[in-house]
Amino acid sequence: MALKVGFVGVPRSAGFVAAFRGQPDVELFAACDTDPAKLQVAERDLGLPRGFTDYQAFLDSGPDAVVIATPMPHHALQAAAALRRGIHVLSEVPAVVDLAQAWDLLQAVRSSSAVYMMAENYCYVRSLGIVREMVRAGLFGDLYYAEGEYLHELKELNELTPWRRIWQTGRNGVTYGTHSLGPLLQWLQDRVVTVSGFGSGHHYRDPRGAPYENEDSCLMLCQLSRGGLVRVRVDMLSNRPHLMHYYALQGTRGCFEAARGLGDVDKVWLADRCDDPNAWRPLEDFADEFLPESWRRWGEQARRAGHGGGDFLQVMDFLAAVTEGASPAVDIFAALDFSLPGLVSQESLLRGGVPLPVPDFRAMTRFPDDLPEELKRAEIVRLATPDGEPAWLERS
Ligand SMILES: NC(=O)c1ccc[n+]([C@@H]2O[C@H](COP(=O)([O-])OP(=O)(O)OC[C@H]3O[C@@H](n4cnc5c(N)ncnc54)[C@H](O)[C@@H]3O)[C@@H](O)[C@H]2O)c1
Repeated sequence: MALKVGFVGVPRSAGFVAAFRGQPDVELFAACDTDPAKLQVAERDLGLPRGFTDYQAFLDSGPDAVVIATPMPHHALQAAAALRRGIHVLSEVPAVVDLAQAWDLLQAVRSSSAVYMMAENYCYVRSLGIVREMVRAGLFGDLYYAEGEYLHELKELNELTPWRRIWQTGRNGVTYGTHSLGPLLQWLQDRVVTVSGFGSGHHYRDPRGAPYENEDSCLMLCQLSRGGLVRVRVDMLSNRPHLMHYYALQGTRGCFEAARGLGDVDKVWLADRCDDPNAWRPLEDFADEFLPESWRRWGEQARRAGHGGGDFLQVMDFLAAVTEGASPAVDIFAALDFSLPGLVSQESLLRGGVPLPVPDFRAMTRFPDDLPEELKRAEIVRLATPDGEPAWLERS
């Protein structure tokens, strides 16, 4: 029987629908969006025949799997509700917006027979996949430092999608960090244990004249469990050209730096493959040897589906997890490893940049009792209400 896939949050679902369409034994089953006009779009443009404005009714209609592409505070709530009914979940990033959501989502995953996977599409960027294969082959030696940057000026988009003005630019710190951190943690095969958050100040105002709560450039310095260091910069406000894919990696035998623009290319230096100790080589020189298998198999199809191929390839991994029992490419613990450091950076910034521990939910048996002492009374324990609204609005 075909796998019935439903899509929540129509605008972003388009990329996912393009990936699921044409896959064997997949039925594009239904759409859910609180805005009825979006359901018309889903039917007309995406070919989704059933539409629901109510999420529970949508789940009642019988999807086997759901793709959650709603605003950030709804991801964990909607994922947990689906999992508790045995419905597979592919969730947009970040997995959670507070620690209470992380605990609830984990309980739902643990109690469910269904698959949970977070859709971190930047882990599937072609160049980053080549680097990942080179890491696996040991070409960079022992890895100890990495950088990721997401520089995406979205002041106008804030007005079109007002949830961004609350959850991305309405709080200070790295509020959208998984695109930068995810690929790096996959390379380093490690998790972040402490985070220090820093900001560059406030230099812009929204159209109502209010300063953005998010500082223009937010940094987090992440110490890893085996001693490595990761620097993440997220900037959604500065006037500048977009650069959403900047990454760098340093190991004992090699390094990688992504292109910065204006003719620059992705490049590596490798002790074993470069004669000149001071000369870069284009990463592309290594594509024939190290292109990931998924890119060899589906590259053209993936590119056509959009977002640099990531949307398509993550759907292939999700289908492998659901139909073949493969491990989800970004499972619940990886999803929390990618999502929680940004959250902790928000608390660190409030406290002047002090390093704060990132809770490891693998080891937690009681919540919030088992949280690190420094976080037990932190704001980030509960930022969203059960309806996905900001909890601080209720308090004020
Ligand atoms: N991975 C990526 O590259 C990428 C790119 C864009 C957006 N995103 C993520 O996708 C999500 C959606 O972003 P967007 O830009 O499409 O936002 P958007 O505001 O354009 O669309 C969100 C949609 O969700 C609907 N919605 C809101 N609350 C809902 C609810 N409770 N139940 C059902 N529908 C609801 C809205 O009516 C709207 O149509 C966000 O989490 C965003 O971070 C990821």
